Amino acid sequence: MKKITIAIDGHSSCGKSTMAKDLAREIGYIYIDSGAMYRAVTYYCLQHDLFTEDSVKLPELQAAMPDIQITFRLNAEGRPETYLGGECIEKEIRGMAVSSRVSLIATIGFVREAMVALQQQMGRNKGIVMDGRDIGTTVFPDAELKVFVTASAEVRAQRRYDELKAKGEEASYESILENVKERDRIDSGRAISPLRKADDAILLDNSTMTIPEQKAWLLEEFKRAAQCTI
Ligand code: CDP
Repeated sequence: MKKITIAIDGHSSCGKSTMAKDLAREIGYIYIDSGAMYRAVTYYCLQHDLFTEDSVKLPELQAAMPDIQITFRLNAEGRPETYLGGECIEKEIRGMAVSSRVSLIATIGFVREAMVALQQQMGRNKGIVMDGRDIGTTVFPDAELKVFVTASAEVRAQRRYDELKAKGEEASYESILENVKERDRIDSGRAISPLRKADDAILLDNSTMTIPEQKAWLLEEFKRAAQCTI
């Protein structure tokens, strides 16, 4: 069967990466978490003191862009982890320090240009599942399968809270809910590649779906899309 490109976009914390990762493993495709790349840039800015009170030191960040080398490697259990240079930063990029600043970083034009170029390079041979905000609209507008996932803000905050708790990390439901709503607002309102459903994307509201249910749903959609390209 010919390999296709699969774009999964949607609101923050709605389980996009879980379903994208599961599908990629099942069908033997590469999985790329594009959000992790914006998180890695944010982590770099924190490490190099590039944030001011409410903004970013843009000339310094722009000059540093060629030094920001983001890659993914599989860990011992076969799960992809994010690396900045040679350092694994998977855990660091999931905490609130990064989460509360990443949407600001994702509004910057030169950051988006660099990330989109890297994402397109990663997907040049197809056989890829990528999740994010602008994959079906900007990164892979010709993807054979596009899904736009959403769920209520409260459901999404609860899922993120459960995820952090399960990892033994400190978390407050209230601050996570606030972060989810704030990122929705910034992601949907930004000038460059705002979060929106591509016209040809399938809408999935998974508020009341279990993980196995959404996994099965996505596998069916994949089969349908892949059949069309035979
Ligand atoms: O996992 P979650 O949905 O909470 O977020 P993420 O996928 O890790 O993405 C983190 C942030 O990066 C988002 O809130 C967006 O601001 C930004 N992002 C983006 O602008 N474009 C993408 N393709 C992916 C993420």
